[in-house]
Amino acid sequence: MTQIMNAITIKGLSKTYKNGTQALKNIDLEIREGDFFALLGANGAGKTTIINILTGLVIKSSGNIKIFDMDIDHNHQAAKRLMGVVPQEFNVNVFERVHDIVVNQAGYYGLNRKQALDRAEELLNAMDLWEKRNQVARELSGGMKRRLMITRALMHQPKLLILDEPTASVDVELRHGMWKYLHRLNDSGSTILLTTHYLEEVEQMCRTAAIIKEGQIIKNEPVKTLIQLLHLEEYIITVKKIQNIKKLSQYQIMVIDDHTFELEIDREHQLNNFLADLPKTGMKTTDIRTKGFRLEKLFINMLKD
Ligand SMILES: Nc1ncnc2c1ncn2[C@@H]1O[C@H](COP(=O)(O)OP(=O)(O)OP(=O)(O)O)[C@@H](O)[C@H]1O
Ligand SMILES: [Mg+2]
Repeated sequence: MTQIMNAITIKGLSKTYKNGTQALKNIDLEIREGDFFALLGANGAGKTTIINILTGLVIKSSGNIKIFDMDIDHNHQAAKRLMGVVPQEFNVNVFERVHDIVVNQAGYYGLNRKQALDRAEELLNAMDLWEKRNQVARELSGGMKRRLMITRALMHQPKLLILDEPTASVDVELRHGMWKYLHRLNDSGSTILLTTHYLEEVEQMCRTAAIIKEGQIIKNEPVKTLIQLLHLEEYIITVKKIQNIKKLSQYQIMVIDDHTFELEIDREHQLNNFLADLPKTGMKTTDIRTKGFRLEKLFINMLKD
């Protein structure tokens, strides 16, 4: 049996910043090779702290981390070569030309000039930045700067791509283009870890997602499972006349008028229970329709609990 390797293995990771903030509390996390993994959580939950520790920008207080089979404490340089990193904050020399920034990055990782130029052209085109190649980074818009950082991270064809909010401030159309590109990259074998606040992005792209809250992982599931958990459905139910509604007190109901009420239900199968209980009131339904999913709201509830 071939065993799939972990791209990232985190064991007992804690971080307390100098000012006393306990940003990470004993985190265990494994990300499989080939996965497309999302790290979700509210502002200040600890996402960037995890990423900055992985990439060597922040020093951990305790715990062990492996990138593939490289321990970051013992094989720091080798581990770094396996990663391409897009940080949350812009960290590019703003006086340098776009083209030089990406070509120099390739040189730094040992690509020859020809390889570097070819790859720069391919990636700058893919990221819709080819036209801007002769401008200095200072002259780019926020979304362009972010795409420049992604281009730079991909120059040495890393096996693992780590992106901290890659699509923040990128407009909708370009964001969809980026999703496609990242999808293709993942299909061709790259492992991707990203943080995001866009749940749509997670639904569209990611296979696995972990939710971090106040420095602890509170969920780590296939996205499909998570979406099932998160999906809360609202139904609008019309009856001939509302009566004996108290008999349904175990359900979340909001009466709208004499004929209509809204029902909030957190799982598909509960609707069947509800429909079985409904005749006890003597009400006759004339219409049931869904009001649609409210993934965002449930996600927020989950972070609150
Ligand atoms: N350099 C630092 N010194 C002290 N505290 C810090 C530092 N960096 C982050 N923190 C604190 O650590 C906690 C986690 O911050 P982190 O940046 O990891 O959150 P995040 O999940 O990335 O949030 P966001 O969604 O806003 O990017 C916060 O309480 C933050 O104030
Ligand atoms: Mg962050």
